[in-house]
Amino acid sequence: MTIIAPSILSADFSRLGEEIKRIEEAGADWVHIDVMDGRFVPNLTFGAPVVKKIRPHTKMFFDCHLMVENPENYVEDFVAAGADMIVVHVETTKHLHRLIQSIHEHGIKAGVALNPATSLSTIEEILPYVDMVLIMSVNPGFGGQQFIATMVKKIACLKEMITKLQRDVFIQVDGGINAQTAKQVIDAGANVLVAGSFIYGAQDIKKAIAELKSYPLI
Ligand code: DX5
Ligand code: ZN
Repeated sequence: MTIIAPSILSADFSRLGEEIKRIEEAGADWVHIDVMDGRFVPNLTFGAPVVKKIRPHTKMFFDCHLMVENPENYVEDFVAAGADMIVVHVETTKHLHRLIQSIHEHGIKAGVALNPATSLSTIEEILPYVDMVLIMSVNPGFGGQQFIATMVKKIACLKEMITKLQRDVFIQVDGGINAQTAKQVIDAGANVLVAGSFIYGAQDIKKAIAELKSYPLI
């Protein structure tokens, strides 16, 4: 079944603990944690201290999406705070292989993210080493943006690359996911969906999550 990872970027930051309980009870699988530094992306959110504070509120998998320059400087802090996976943008670091290796050495999963304009060719050499590839379907920095339709083809190409490698690598899609775009990306090969405004903005969160999970994986 599709893994649903609600983004707490759209949650009420004044009561994050309860907001996480709410998605857990509604059937979410992972918590998607958007970390922004105001340098790589034109917005600021929070860092490892906030992750550490929300960790005791749930046993759900913490998927930490680092939209920061020099992510290698923060691996230890996020691991100590309770991250289960750290996802770094290929655009943000010079020694990607070393970074992925170091995340794994800390005993957690490692993923790479690609901005909409970054080619899949940039991850060809790292693909054998990662647990997940995150295809950004909006430009990172803000919730509630419109899905970029050409990313569907990019997801299908990534699916082909992974099939050729004969490895299990999650394909995650982040940005503008709703009931319609979810179907398109799942049909192209995605198996982990991030959704912020669609889930936290829903009247009935349980129904919204069930809707995203209702499409069969390919
Ligand atoms: C954008 C973030 C996303 C964002 C998605 O930079 O990485 O995780 O929260 O929000 P929606 O689902 O509203 O597009
Ligand atoms: Zn994200």
